[in-house]
Amino acid sequence: MKYIEVTFTMESTDLFRDLLVDTLGNEGPYESFVETKDGLKAYVPIDKFDKTWLRQQLKELGEQFSTFNFQLSIREMEDKDWNAEWEKGHQAVLVEYDGGSVWVRAPFHPHRDDVSYELIIEPKMSFGTAHHPTTYMMLSYVAELGMMGKRVLDMGCGTAVLAILAKMRGAAYVEGVDIDEWAFNNARENAASNGVEIMLKLGDATVLKGSFDVVIANINRNILLADMYKYAAVLNPGGTLLLSGFYEADEQALVAKANTLGLTLKSKKNREGWSALQLIKNV
Ligand SMILES: C[S@@+](CC[C@H](N)C(=O)[O-])C[C@H]1O[C@@H](n2cnc3c(N)ncnc32)[C@H](O)[C@@H]1O
Repeated sequence: MKYIEVTFTMESTDLFRDLLVDTLGNEGPYESFVETKDGLKAYVPIDKFDKTWLRQQLKELGEQFSTFNFQLSIREMEDKDWNAEWEKGHQAVLVEYDGGSVWVRAPFHPHRDDVSYELIIEPKMSFGTAHHPTTYMMLSYVAELGMMGKRVLDMGCGTAVLAILAKMRGAAYVEGVDIDEWAFNNARENAASNGVEIMLKLGDATVLKGSFDVVIANINRNILLADMYKYAAVLNPGGTLLLSGFYEADEQALVAKANTLGLTLKSKKNREGWSALQLIKNV
């Protein structure tokens, strides 16, 4: 498949890289991103590239943030170039949490013995490598909280990075659900590479059945607000809901919604403007 590469060169990279990844990747059809020294490269299949949509998103970001200044270049590229480019720009990530560390690497990165958990994740075009602050925070939660013998649901599993860690930490049953077929297939490959068994389902909250002790959902503000009642419905009393995929500014809206569903905020994490919440279902 042919891809379009959109290169952003920016003065202020930290916040705007994340904003672009969120806008283009979560709300749009962009499938992968490579961070560069002074910006970001974003990749979209040529048949999904819509210049008018892109222009509109950038205009809205510019209206929201007066410091959003960038230069843009667009080029068509071949598969082969794209893969090589991606591998060059893809770094392994060390997630440090209270009590240990998780090393998330691709098969072409070196193995490490000095970590608590090592995950081999070949994301290809799915989201979930620990580079993103939301994945980083959710991995810390999964590493810190008790998973032994639990039934865990990972909504919007992407690469299944969170589901895989939950299983490695002793969860009895782990289910991963993603609406995107590419992510679904990629999750299956990653589960196999890490030697763990995960029940994977293609779809959204409508496929949910049964009950869980832990529900994890790193998606985005609007989907979480719309579907949280379905996550709460499959969560056992006393169970844990971990949410991420939104900015600190949206925390209140998410907590208020959770409270109406019988969930209470227990803790939160923040990283680079992003938020992760730990909520407990009232008994
Ligand atoms: C931000 S990524 C998170 C991936 C991974 N769980 C992580 O923490 O890195 C969100 C994922 O949710 C999926 N997704 C989006 N809308 C969804 C929905 N309504 N139900 C289930 N999955 C959804 C996307 O395809 C994407 O893989």
